[in-house]
Amino acid sequence: MICLIPAPNVMAKTCFFSPLLFLLLFTTIRVILSANSPNISTDQSALLALKSHITHDPHNILATNWSTSTSVCNWIGVTCESKHHRAIALDLSSLDLTGTIPSQLGNLSFLIRLFINNNSFHGVLPIELSNLHAMRALNFGNNNFDGEIPSWFGYFVELQLLWLYGNNFIGVIPSTLANLSKLVLLNLFNNNLQGQIPAAIGNLSNLEWLYLYNNSLSGYILISILNLFSLVKS
Ligand SMILES: *[C@@H]1O[C@H](CO)[C@@H](O)[C@H](O)[C@H]1NC(C)=O
Ligand SMILES: *[C@@H]1O[C@H](CO)[C@@H](O)[C@H](O)[C@H]1NC(C)=O
Ligand SMILES: *[C@@H]1O[C@H](CO)[C@@H](O)[C@H](O)[C@H]1NC(C)=O
Ligand SMILES: *[C@@H]1O[C@H](CO)[C@@H](O)[C@H](O)[C@H]1NC(C)=O
Ligand SMILES: *[C@@H]1O[C@H](CO)[C@@H](O)[C@H](O)[C@H]1NC(C)=O
Ligand SMILES: *[C@@H]1O[C@H](CO)[C@@H](O)[C@H](O)[C@H]1NC(C)=O
Ligand SMILES: *[C@@H]1O[C@H](CO)[C@@H](O)[C@H](O)[C@H]1NC(C)=O
Repeated sequence: MICLIPAPNVMAKTCFFSPLLFLLLFTTIRVILSANSPNISTDQSALLALKSHITHDPHNILATNWSTSTSVCNWIGVTCESKHHRAIALDLSSLDLTGTIPSQLGNLSFLIRLFINNNSFHGVLPIELSNLHAMRALNFGNNNFDGEIPSWFGYFVELQLLWLYGNNFIGVIPSTLANLSKLVLLNLFNNNLQGQIPAAIGNLSNLEWLYLYNNSLSGYILISILNLFSLVKS
């Protein structure tokens, strides 16, 4: 680092100090990293934020079970991975919950499965969710989400399964969904989507299941998808 001057005597002198400098730098960097690096406490605050955004929990499931006296890994619906001790899956489907999705949910950086289908979640999806780059399966089906399908869904580069059916999504299908090259299932039925189906959807080479019925979509999709088993569109 410091040994930039080619003269041997100068170099020797400077290098005598550099290990110390290195150690100092390394220690500083380590301290900064560990102060900021997310851990299971990050997951706990994210899940507690979600709990505080639940306005109706008729079976008192989260109220009694999501208690800080035990690890989030023991909470109903939460699955952790042992190696990094972080939450990898959240499944709150069919619990009759009413509420909104807080931005803090985007801090669950190890999450690969998020299932909150068949509840009464409403509002718009916060952009912070786009930080969940490992996400493989997302199920927001049968809720009351509104607004447009966010274009930042294109950041879920690992996504294989996407269910958004049975909500109040309006507007067009974002063409950024064509970025989801690993997508196998895209389920958008029973929404208020309109406009043309993006042609690029036809280029998703892994897509096998596409559900678009009961929307106001127009146009055709050129099927370059050899393994598309089911194209269901009204
Ligand atoms: C998690 O990180 C915070 C700092 O962000 C730290 O205070 C805490 O001790 C860590 N917890 C665990 C379980 O490692
Ligand atoms: C929460 O539910 C899980 C799974 O049913 C159970 O193992 C755990 O003991 C419960 N925790 C509390 C505090 O009720
Ligand atoms: C949806 O949740 C309700 C309970 O709230 C349950 O009775 C119903 O079977 C669920 N439907 C599906 C398709 O899972
Ligand atoms: C989590 O996310 C929120 C909002 O997205 C952010 O302000 C906060 O600093 C994060 N908290 C932790 C503990 O990572
Ligand atoms: C598309 O995916 C690439 C990674 O494959 C990512 O870098 C880019 O930001 C994504 N673009 C959009 C618009 O989602
Ligand atoms: C079509 O979707 C809307 C929600 O956008 C729903 O209310 C309606 O019942 C659905 N119609 C049918 C025939 O399933
Ligand atoms: C689909 O892929 C082909 C071949 O890679 C490319 O030429 C074409 O422009 C793509 N179509 C769209 C709409 O992205």
